[in-house]
Amino acid sequence: MTETQTPDATTAPLADQRPYSPGLEGVLAGETALSKVDGERGRLIYRGYRIGDLVERGSYSAVANLLWTGEWAPAHRLPTEPIPGPVLEILKALPTSTKPMDALRTAVSAWGATQDLPWPPTVDQARAVTSFSPSALAAFARLREGKEPVEPDPSLDLVEGFLYQLKGERPDPGTARALDAYFVVGAEHGFNASTFTVRVITSTRSDIASAVAGAIGTMKGPLHGGAPSEVVDQLAKVGSVEHAEEWLRGALDRGERLMGFGHRVYRAYDPRAAALRKVAEGMEHKPDWLQLAIQVEDVALRVLAERHPERALKTNVEFYAAPVLQGVGLTPDLFPATFSLARHAGWTAHVLEQSGDNRLIRPDVRYIGPAERDLPTG
Ligand code: ACO
Repeated sequence: MTETQTPDATTAPLADQRPYSPGLEGVLAGETALSKVDGERGRLIYRGYRIGDLVERGSYSAVANLLWTGEWAPAHRLPTEPIPGPVLEILKALPTSTKPMDALRTAVSAWGATQDLPWPPTVDQARAVTSFSPSALAAFARLREGKEPVEPDPSLDLVEGFLYQLKGERPDPGTARALDAYFVVGAEHGFNASTFTVRVITSTRSDIASAVAGAIGTMKGPLHGGAPSEVVDQLAKVGSVEHAEEWLRGALDRGERLMGFGHRVYRAYDPRAAALRKVAEGMEHKPDWLQLAIQVEDVALRVLAERHPERALKTNVEFYAAPVLQGVGLTPDLFPATFSLARHAGWTAHVLEQSGDNRLIRPDVRYIGPAERDLPTG
């Protein structure tokens, strides 16, 4: 075919030579003022502020407000909100074997059905869903154990309130602070898969509850949000530092992935892992396997560097999320849903950003099926 010929259906598939990157790796699919993930240098900023500084001097509520409004107001507070009656009834109707991520996704979807969420989405809508979801997850976690849900205490800020509603008693300040730090590092992270989902849903002018429910579904996958509980499982299998090298090499020989290592964007050490390691080491009630984790990390980094000299595989956020989450008293099956609670701030900030300068997200796809043909006769 020459350049002057119009491609027809027979030649078009072969003629479509536009670049395609599997997994959209390295593709710019939007613009954001919310965060920058610098994978080469291992740096993360939210609206310009370094993640390490935000962990040390901020709180989740202040960070959420920063993401939504662009304003740094360190005293900003965001208490959890009560669960609407119909949503509570739905949570009560779920089987006790329901996975917490499924319960949270269902709760957000049902919450959306009880709200008036007109377009365009607002900061108030973002606040409302972000402060509803911790109550819903805490209620489900209690209901499945046959306990009554605990009403929100408006005097508590979001993370402390979540722990209170989960346990039925106020957490000690160190515990609340450690989980708050986890929420800060989990709040936002560029165009990860769940945030991209939020952008796509919002671009259709759908509502904020649909966007967050879709994001929870995306985050449910083990390649995105499921790793910290698997970190705990893997460390239990490793057992001791003497056994670590042999176990890790065996896992790689079997084609398994080491949980808590590797990242699509980071080629350097994940700055969120560095911040959470500090938090984990400073915790009063650290899990007894934290020391083992620190030792296993060194061995894993050495073995991964040997196996994959072509691709830098470093520690990711999930590795040190595991001891923090376990240290504050969460069971591993609550880890992914707790990560989702933290990411509400970023998801909803992306809803606001997308709606503020919206264009329907509708990329193209290269057709690789059979050329146009006649149906077989007979
Ligand atoms: N352990 C062993 N090998 C790994 C690991 C790992 N953790 N991560 C990547 N590799 C290997 C892959 O096997 C692949 O080698 P191959 O081409 O010979 O198969 C190579 O490194 C490149 O890996 P990709 O799959 O291209 O990396 P990708 O960017 O798609 O994946 C991911 C990133 C999913 C995080 C991956 O590193 C992984 O599975 N890690 C373990 C799970 C995990 O920790 N997830 C949490 C991520 S952080 C987050 O979502 C908040």
